[in-house]
Formats: sequence, C-alpha cells, structure tokens
Amino acid sequence: MLLQELSGISETLYLVEESYSSQRTIESTLRYLAGVHTFVAQEKIRLIRIKKEEQTLGLFIFNPGNKEFPVDFWSVFTGALAKEPYRREFEELSASILLQNPAEKEFEISSELWRDAINEYYSLMLISRNLCPGCSTELEAYDCVFSEGRVKRVQESFEKLKAKGYSFESGKKGKMLEVCCGNGMSTLALHRMGFEPLGVEVNKCTLCQGLEHRVLNPKKALVLDATKLSEYFEPEFDFVVGFMLGLVYEFNKGLWIGIVKEAAKVTAKGGLLLFSVKSRPEIEILAKALFEVGVIGEIVDNEDSDGIFDQWLFIGRKI
Ligand SMILES: C[S@@+](CC[C@H](N)C(=O)[O-])C[C@H]1O[C@@H](n2cnc3c(N)ncnc32)[C@H](O)[C@@H]1O
Repeated sequence: MLLQELSGISETLYLVEESYSSQRTIESTLRYLAGVHTFVAQEKIRLIRIKKEEQTLGLFIFNPGNKEFPVDFWSVFTGALAKEPYRREFEELSASILLQNPAEKEFEISSELWRDAINEYYSLMLISRNLCPGCSTELEAYDCVFSEGRVKRVQESFEKLKAKGYSFESGKKGKMLEVCCGNGMSTLALHRMGFEPLGVEVNKCTLCQGLEHRVLNPKKALVLDATKLSEYFEPEFDFVVGFMLGLVYEFNKGLWIGIVKEAAKVTAKGGLLLFSVKSRPEIEILAKALFEVGVIGEIVDNEDSDGIFDQWLFIGRKI
C-alpha cells in the first residue's frame, strides 16, 4: 500500500476518516488530534510526519497492541484534502503536537502523490469490504461485466472527433477527470488510448466491481457525488469526460445538468469537455446547460446501427 511505502512502515494502518468525502470536514481527525494534543503533554508517542515543504500533509501515530486489541497499528491523520477552516485547524494542531513531540521520521512528498495514496487506501478498503460490513456481493466473471464491443465504441467516438479536427494530446499530458465512471467500462477504453483519468462514481458497488477486476486504478478512483465536484476540486482538469450519462429525462434532468455544470466548474480555462448519451434530446439538454456556463462546443452525431451506446456526443471547451 502506498501509504505504507511513503511512511516506511510495515504494520497495519487506518485512516481516521471513514470515507473520502469525510476528508473535507475531518471531524474525527480534529477530535482525535485534540485528544492527542493533551496526551503528548504527559507522555511521548511515536510519530511520523509526511510533509510538503512547511505543510504537514499527514501524521502517522503509533498505537501499540494491548489486551483489548493485541495488534500494533498506526492511525493516519490528514487535513490536506480538507476545506478551510478545517485544513488550517489541522495544520495548527499538528504543529503544536510536533513541537511537544517531534516526529521520529519525516518524509517530503508531493500533494499529488499524497492524494493518490489516500485514494488508494479507500479503494483497497472498499475492495476488502471494510467500508460495507454487510456486503454479500460476489465477484461476477469479467466477461459477464465488460464488453470489448463497448470499449471499441468509446474508442471509435474519439476517432470520429479526431476526423473532425479535434486533438486529444494535451488531455494525455494534463490532468483528466472522468465523471460517472461506473465500473470502468469506458475507463478501459481511455486507458487503452493512453489517458490516465481520475474516475468518480457515486455508486460504491459499481466502483468496487471495477476495482476488483483491476479495470480501475485504485489510486485514481473515488466514490464521490459528481454534483459536488467543485467542493473537492479546483478548476484544475485539462480534460473532463463522462460517457453514457443519463438517461436524461425531463423529470430527472436537474441531476445531469448539475453534473455537467459541476464538471465545467472543475475544468481549467481552455480545457476540453466531452460527454456521450444515447439520444439527441438528452445531448441537447446537456449542451444547453453547458452553453449557459460559458462552454463553447458542438453536438456530434455518432449514431451506429446498434443505436445504444454513445450515440450522441457533446464536445466543447471552457473559455
Ligand atoms: C449509464 S452509467 C455509465 C457508466 C460508464 N460511464 C460507462 O460508460 O459505462 C451512468 C453512471 O453514472 C453514475 N452516477 C449517477 N449519478 C451520479 C452522481 N451524482 N455522481 C457520480 N456518478 C453518478 C451511475 O451510478 C452510473 O454508474
């Protein structure tokens, strides 16, 4: 596990927050750290610090086994993904703890690597069912879930757009986000074309299926509601995609409009957006919403004889 590699430990570790989304407000982190702060005034503890220049990205605190829980483990605290004022509170508490009880080791890493490590932790916890104790879902055979035909269909959509003059090379070099990635069916096509997207999906079981089949990269897959993207990300992505969004009907269009508008918010200026749906009325609803938030682009007819997947595309650029 990346968190173990980065901190040079071999013992088990647990992140204090139980989900990626709770990393935004870090309630448990701040509560436990306040306790640690009081504790270190009387007794020394084993601490490892992960940092980026002056910023503490993570604190590892050692918990020796005892009668109740006879296994040594490390608790991992981070505020690096939190919003203000929680991030600052984490920084202040960590600084005060480290002043009284210096870390036995410090490691300097990038924020990006730290994010990957946190993502990977939650992905592995999901696969091992630690986040869903009652889960009885069995792994379905790969061929029952993933279809080469669909992978080809996504790849053909890119070919169609390239023939119209679009270039995707900057998307390969820059940061890419795939919203509503499901079990990674469309991600599989993106990987084959050389993209490395961060996939977000609201349904835990669907994402878990993609992780279990190693279709999704555990460092680049998140359980996250795409209607809240801007709460987690800056306008930082060079290419944002979403395949087979919907079905988009009049009665549920608010959800999908919310998703594409949030996708536009986290796209960097000049970045590309690409979405696919099944029918023309659906893509018209999404295109109208994207035009409203300053995306310029076009609807592309991508119909084939099957008439099911990725029939209509919207491609645009955030200005
Ligand atoms: C038709 S599937 C498409 C999956 C994948 N993109 C593909 O092409 O195979 C639509 C996906 O959107 C996900 N979804 C719906 N609402 C969402 C939300 N608010 N945030 C993130 N994902 C969402 C669903 O759970 C589902 O996996």
